[in-house]
Amino acid sequence: MPLSNRKTLTQYLIEQRRRFPGASGELNALILDVALACKAIARSVAFGALGDPSTRQLAVANGGDDLGGSTNVQGEVQQPLDIVSNEIFIRTTEWSGHLAGMASEEMDAPRQIPATFKRGKYLLVFDPLDGSSNIDVNVSVGSIFSILRAPTDVVDSARDVTEADFLQPGAAQVAAGYAIYGPTAILVLTVGDGVAGFTLDPNLGEFKLTHPDIRVPAETQEFAINTSNSRFWEPPIKRYVDECLAGRTGVRGKDFNMRWIASMVAEAHRILMRGGVFMYPRDTKDPAKPGRLRLLYECNPVGFIMEQAGGRASTGRQPVLGVKPSALHQRIGIVFGSAQEVERIERYHHERMPVEVESPLFATRGLFRD
Ligand code: F6P
Ligand code: MN
Repeated sequence: MPLSNRKTLTQYLIEQRRRFPGASGELNALILDVALACKAIARSVAFGALGDPSTRQLAVANGGDDLGGSTNVQGEVQQPLDIVSNEIFIRTTEWSGHLAGMASEEMDAPRQIPATFKRGKYLLVFDPLDGSSNIDVNVSVGSIFSILRAPTDVVDSARDVTEADFLQPGAAQVAAGYAIYGPTAILVLTVGDGVAGFTLDPNLGEFKLTHPDIRVPAETQEFAINTSNSRFWEPPIKRYVDECLAGRTGVRGKDFNMRWIASMVAEAHRILMRGGVFMYPRDTKDPAKPGRLRLLYECNPVGFIMEQAGGRASTGRQPVLGVKPSALHQRIGIVFGSAQEVERIERYHHERMPVEVESPLFATRGLFRD
């Protein structure tokens, strides 16, 4: 099997580390452990309906059943693979001595590093399997992760971590990434120096650098939003989508295309590859849920990646990375992607809107009428 001369993830990380002569290498080691978790999850996902026998047992042992009948802390149905992926993340990272604690979409409270292992200086936050409601229909899913520094007193005392230790703004992230399990498995990573993409070489089981400096095109003609929620949208979003739909005949003067995969990782990846804008904005659907996606392990890592790739991520009102989290599983409205489009949406939020935007789309006979 010919060895290509592409860089491996390990090589990329070692080269990145040279920017920080004092760095201990712990961050790199942690990222490589996370990459291993992603490889294991890619493998489990690939078994599909056949069911990877070892992982099915793991799911049942950890509270799931064969039909995925359990629910997570947020009341969402957990697929067996959600539970399996969560376990894989825990087992590949907790032993290393690099983590002070971890938190996940699938766990109610922060997870402590067992006393049998050393405690380290980083916090790992993750969504082990994003878009998992798409598993049954064989659409791309992925894992998302964010690495933060643990507060100094946690590191000094090696005390148990609390929820408060994780409530750091996205701007404090040291590294973030996702792995997408699609026709190929790709790991996309930022350590704060741009964004790089690595394709899993199935022959070697190695992530190889295939997308060295990913940039989000500043302009786009493609948007992604779940329009079934349109009657709950706030006026700035209604206005933006309306203008896209008006196309060439409207104020934008060009036609737009729309996509909705219902797998945020896959939407983020499409936008990194060819531009676009993704919206899951705050809406009035459920007053208890100001947005759909979770700030700490969905919006912040993807926001960091977008900004590092020259794109933008916003709540509509402020940059996502500036939000001070108030809870581990906090939900928030998010708009991300091509910078010019996100800026436009922010502008619509900031502009005072004297009257509700008149829109053919939302009018009495409109397509998305209330
Ligand atoms: O984790 C949340 C998520 O699965 C995202 O991956 C995706 O973008 C969204 O939910 C889909 O939401 P909806 O069901 O409203 O289309
Ligand atoms: Mn998710």
